[in-house]
Amino acid sequence: MRASTSSLKSKDLLGIEALLPDEIELILDTAEGFKEVSERPVKKVPALRGQLVINLFMEASTRTRVSFEIAEKRLSADTLNFTASGSSVEKGETLIDTAENLVAMHPDMIVIRAKHPGAPKMLADRLPNVSIINAGDGSHEHPTQALLDAFTIRERLGRLAGVNVSIIGDIAHSRVVRSNIHLLTKMQANVTVAAPPTLIPAEIEKLGVRVVHALDEAVADADVIMMLRIQLERQGKLSFPSLREYYNTFGLTPERLARANSNAIIMHPGPMNRGVEIASDVADDPRRSVILEQVTNGVAVRMAVLYLLGGAHNVE
Ligand code: CP
Repeated sequence: MRASTSSLKSKDLLGIEALLPDEIELILDTAEGFKEVSERPVKKVPALRGQLVINLFMEASTRTRVSFEIAEKRLSADTLNFTASGSSVEKGETLIDTAENLVAMHPDMIVIRAKHPGAPKMLADRLPNVSIINAGDGSHEHPTQALLDAFTIRERLGRLAGVNVSIIGDIAHSRVVRSNIHLLTKMQANVTVAAPPTLIPAEIEKLGVRVVHALDEAVADADVIMMLRIQLERQGKLSFPSLREYYNTFGLTPERLARANSNAIIMHPGPMNRGVEIASDVADDPRRSVILEQVTNGVAVRMAVLYLLGGAHNVE
């Protein structure tokens, strides 16, 4: 296989907001080429042989951390996983001191998940010789999640332009929604966000989305229904009376799904709160749910991002 030799204009991937549509297209096309590597008996190409990637996870993760590590191994990179727990962060060492010490050991790329919005940009500015990849920073951006979501939509529906995407849930605290809005609007998709008013940030319409406050209205003409988790860890107190009431008004149940476009696909970035934003019967619906396809596609998309930033051109 020979992936594109074009490159991204920045040394880092900090968010979708700064990407051009043709860079998004390049990542998705490159990921399409990489997807079959994971289906081979020997799931490996030598693209990043000799490169060291550090996965610096300062906040909990299952999908993103594992997916990046698998992507790095499939590209033959050396990988090192660093978590705050058990490190000198517990003795008070700052993020920048931690990163500068890691960089002293000559990694080529750092994948960072951080609690604080802007932490990946701070590292990118301070560390000119290393590529920084944002794996989710607070409620700011989660660019590789939006890219894998777009890849999945494009694979299922054949295009992004003109597709009606409804994103339902905790819009106020979600980095996934912010990256998805940037990506989908750049690619000419139509985006609706739906939640109780207390979970919609002020002036979100300025990002080019339609805002509704009823689930039935959001799903009526949607080609893609993307459900988001209520981020209890980022809310001081519940922004609605109770989880049961939330499920009764904004939970995607089989009955509500029956009123949606019969071909609409169901997405969720995970982790899911079953019985809060989505019913198990919907999440596990083999015809409509593409939730595990999103996870599969995450590896190919992250391989593409690592490959394009790593500047390797020797994929066989
Ligand atoms: N979608 C996502 O970011 O999941 P994790 O928090 O498990 O990485």
